[in-house]
Amino acid sequence: MNRWLDTPLTEALGCRYPIVQTAMGWVADANLVIATTEAGGFGFLAGATIAADELEGEIRKVIDTTGGSNFGLNFHMFQDNAAQCVDLAIQYRLRAVSYGRGPDKKTIARFKAAKVLCIPTVGALKHALKAVELGADLITIQGGEGGGHTGGVPSSILLPQVLAAVKVPVIAAGGYATGRGLASVLAAGGAGIAMGTRFLMTRESPTPAATLERYLKVSDPQQVRVTTAVDGMRHRMIENRFINHLEKSGPFGRLRIALGSAWQWKQQTGMSLGHMASVFIRALREDPSQLSQVMMAANQPVLLQRSMVDGAPDEGILPSGQVAAAIGELLSCREVIEGIASEAQQCLDALLARSQTHPSTHPASIGEPL
Ligand SMILES: Cc1cc2nc3c(=O)[nH]c(=O)nc-3n(C[C@H](O)[C@H](O)[C@H](O)COP(=O)(O)O)c2cc1C
Repeated sequence: MNRWLDTPLTEALGCRYPIVQTAMGWVADANLVIATTEAGGFGFLAGATIAADELEGEIRKVIDTTGGSNFGLNFHMFQDNAAQCVDLAIQYRLRAVSYGRGPDKKTIARFKAAKVLCIPTVGALKHALKAVELGADLITIQGGEGGGHTGGVPSSILLPQVLAAVKVPVIAAGGYATGRGLASVLAAGGAGIAMGTRFLMTRESPTPAATLERYLKVSDPQQVRVTTAVDGMRHRMIENRFINHLEKSGPFGRLRIALGSAWQWKQQTGMSLGHMASVFIRALREDPSQLSQVMMAANQPVLLQRSMVDGAPDEGILPSGQVAAAIGELLSCREVIEGIASEAQQCLDALLARSQTHPSTHPASIGEPL
């Protein structure tokens, strides 16, 4: 039945379909991961924005509801509680962890000993090669059209480059939302797809209605553009009042905005004035010209929180993939996953039928390089 959809991804991650729900700050909570898991996909909890004292509870909630630890945890080594994320992933024997800037070889060895699969996300070929050298079990490539922090190489270029260069299974992210997209990845030799924006735009997404409406309103991929104004890195988001204001502000204006969000972050997290001052002084010492960006990067959770939690889409940032422009309605996670799986299967069946009608034009079998 599922002959096209049994891939190294489903085998390694123990899910029914080769479809991954990626981590998204303030969005990929236990409920989203549960909905994904129950529909046959594989979900990642967004460990970077779940408060340290709630993380274990979120993990347990998914385990208790789904009856297993067939899901993953995303974290970044630079976050305060990175060590806690590593320990919890190992303690609960989660199926996988994902990360951008990755843990060192020693930490990866700990994951391997506990059979927690390491699935870094990369945006360039050289990062894929480095990730494999460090011990990645699978790799997610994220093309530049993807949401949040993103590279400059489109999926259509990055995926074949990485497939040709590495031996571990490769998952494609950045711009996927359809079964046609999944079929194209499987036909090229990929192990499956990973999606952020499509899962953000589901009925189980915790994102407030006012913010989701902004995502649904996007009709032109150009409205979802890259800015470096937030933290100096390429960040793809829906253009809004906040981002236009930030980009137009000079260094002093940006610093003022950064300090404003830092203050809010302090109020919410109970961060001490001393800690706030130490971030400020460290940034000042390291590179005074980058002060506003360092402060802004440190306070990104607040900028994200304004839109993704408080439902004020013009007062924070709206990370999104360009694919938002191709998504017209909120579906359930099950409808998304089953719809994509069934369309992919039809596409691949049609491809096979065509190759049988015209055997002389049949290329090498799926998954092998041409
Ligand atoms: C709202 C939002 C928040 C995100 N937050 C994170 C994050 O915390 N950690 C991470 O590794 N990636 C994050 N990403 C990137 C996604 O995990 C994923 O790689 C990307 O959305 C894939 O591209 P797509 O949006 O075209 O599907 C975020 C993306 C979005 C849209």
